[in-house]
Amino acid sequence: MDSLKLSDIKTIANIGAGTMGHATALQFAMYGYHVYLLDTTQKALNHGLDLIKHDLQTFLGANIVQADEETDILARIIPTTDYQKAISKADFVIESIVEDLTVKQLVWQKVEQFASDETVFATNTSGLSPTAIQSKLHHPERLVVAHFWNPAQLMPLVEVVPGNLTNEATITLTTALMNHVGKHAIALKRESLGFVGNRIQLAVLREAFKIVKDGIADPAAVDDIIKYSLGRRWSLVGPIASADLGGLDVFKNISSYLYADLASEQETDPLLEKMVDEGRLGLKSGEGFFDWQGDKGKEIV
Ligand code: NAI
Repeated sequence: MDSLKLSDIKTIANIGAGTMGHATALQFAMYGYHVYLLDTTQKALNHGLDLIKHDLQTFLGANIVQADEETDILARIIPTTDYQKAISKADFVIESIVEDLTVKQLVWQKVEQFASDETVFATNTSGLSPTAIQSKLHHPERLVVAHFWNPAQLMPLVEVVPGNLTNEATITLTTALMNHVGKHAIALKRESLGFVGNRIQLAVLREAFKIVKDGIADPAAVDDIIKYSLGRRWSLVGPIASADLGGLDVFKNISSYLYADLASEQETDPLLEKMVDEGRLGLKSGEGFFDWQGDKGKEIV
């Protein structure tokens, strides 16, 4: 098979019109691609289109999109429930459907039936193994993870994660396309549970939950400590470069007495379990570590 170049890509099939899928569809359309927005029902498509229109209004207000571009962007998004119509015309397929391995495997097998030999496949799984997803395909080498961060219309990062059978051309093309549509794509060397971003996020959260559970500081204090120190620094220089700048001998010293005192999963699971059992799920239930009743939090999300 000849590998596609970035300039060969004109049409995207975007499977799933939900939280993530509507946002990726809009992103591609904003950058001039024709996008087939695929979902299982007209109702789901209408919901996705409403989300897209809502995001567009935000982008217009923030001058990210100009008034004279709006009609053209929307015209480039073609909603459909017809897999054959969408996939047969697509150069690149991005999938954001339910996080279920069997369902994703079945959908990608269906995609492969209708796709041309060159079409590149990207799954926006949060954490399923790309090796497992690609394992049922005749051409597994052309499937890769493109893991967007929610809200995908605002967060720059896309983790590009190969399965064991993904080829270099697929990784290179997917990375180039994500960068071309305004994202910051970073390709990993190989897959791992949680990829990289979620591994680090959960390591930090595990310690933050322990600090709260042990009564060292309350949730607002923990958040402020991060916001006014590491958060600020890490937005400029990542943690590993920060360690270099601080001196690895200093970090060796700190780690020699601190590692042993840090949280283990056995310590923090009970706190999360208790809160979930009590129905304290965060914004969606009106209360988590913080009170989110009424309009609180609306300006953040
Ligand atoms: P969602 O539930 O908001 O949307 C899923 C959409 O896929 C729905 O509109 C549903 O009707 C549609 N769908 C289901 N089966 C389909 C099929 N066979 N063909 C076409 N459309 C189908 O879910 P969400 O949150 O957008 O998640 C989608 C994927 O993105 C999941 O794999 C999730 O793990 C991943 N993800 C989610 C993030 C999040 O924060 N929500 C962040 C990063 C990745």
